[in-house]
Amino acid sequence: APTPTASTGAVSLTRYLIEEQRAGRISADLRLLVEVVARACKTISIAVGKGALGGVLGEAGGAGKASINIQGEAQKKLDVIANDVLLEANAWGGHLAGMASEEMDHSVPMSDASPRGNYLLLFDPLDGSSNIDVNISVGTIFSVLRCPDGVTSPVDADFLQPGTAQVCAGYTTYGPSTMLVLTVGNGTHAFTLDREVGSFMLTTRGMTIPAQTREFAVNMSNQRHWQAPMQAYVGDLLAGKDGPRGKDFNMRWVASMVADVHRILTRGGIFTYPLDAKCADKGGKLRLMYEANPMSLLVEQAGGAASTGRQRMLEVQPVHLHQRVPVFLGSKHEVEAAVAYHHAHD
Ligand code: AHG
Ligand code: MN
Ligand code: MN
Ligand code: MN
Repeated sequence: APTPTASTGAVSLTRYLIEEQRAGRISADLRLLVEVVARACKTISIAVGKGALGGVLGEAGGAGKASINIQGEAQKKLDVIANDVLLEANAWGGHLAGMASEEMDHSVPMSDASPRGNYLLLFDPLDGSSNIDVNISVGTIFSVLRCPDGVTSPVDADFLQPGTAQVCAGYTTYGPSTMLVLTVGNGTHAFTLDREVGSFMLTTRGMTIPAQTREFAVNMSNQRHWQAPMQAYVGDLLAGKDGPRGKDFNMRWVASMVADVHRILTRGGIFTYPLDAKCADKGGKLRLMYEANPMSLLVEQAGGAASTGRQRMLEVQPVHLHQRVPVFLGSKHEVEAAVAYHHAHD
């Protein structure tokens, strides 16, 4: 008979992080940082879950005046709540030097009142804002960088590091279940929130994206605004079995990047948000630092690929905190196919 032990074999996020620290792959400070972000995300999950009962739906800003963020978007109440929760939770732990967010004009250095750590935290506090009011999955995306040596009070320029410099990236998805998907550079792992216990539990160790797929994700309503490579690529996907790709493709578009990327990490696919005539002046729709880079690290760590169409996403040298980029990520061979259409048009 097996020897009885105290352990049930279940691995909590806490245990996972302690084991990574013991193996020398993360520092105690990075472990604390992830714990704090995970705790903040549990708070956001509760607010999201209350919906209309919590008075959290709808637009931010009072007296009929919309509150517009630095991205030029009307903020939802939950964009602001989630941003505040993340700022507050991370303010006093001593593990950070500064934070930056989709919802804030500039990065903020940690106050002098608490000790400063060596990490920089970047986040999209609430991803998929347009889905809040219709009860469809939304999420939080985060990325962790090191504060440059000798910098005690980081400014925006200190955050402008390529995605390869990320020491950790992750997202939570607030869907039928709340999940945290995380990488500290040693694979991509999924944790599911046990709501009764209040802990994230490891439910998939080593997520792997199949290299081939028959599923793509894009906002098709932008088709007439796309550039030539994207027109040609999607045209061939839609041509199906009898076209040059020789197989039929299915399409999905949740319009919450977290939900679309979560599906791809779970069963494969390609996610695209290309350059189009509406966003060309901004360089794309999605944000490099809060969306593209953390998702690209998670996808690469799961065996997938991520590109701007012309360059590996993680090698893009950022020049602006709120920089936008075209995004192609997911199943390796499909991303390579999409990239080939771009090179064919160069
Ligand atoms: P956010 O809610 O953080 O501003 O991000 C929205 C993003 C992303 O989640 C999604 O993939 C995309 O915008 C949807 O864009 P469309 O509404 O143009 O389809
Ligand atoms: Mn937004
Ligand atoms: Mn977003
Ligand atoms: Mn957002």
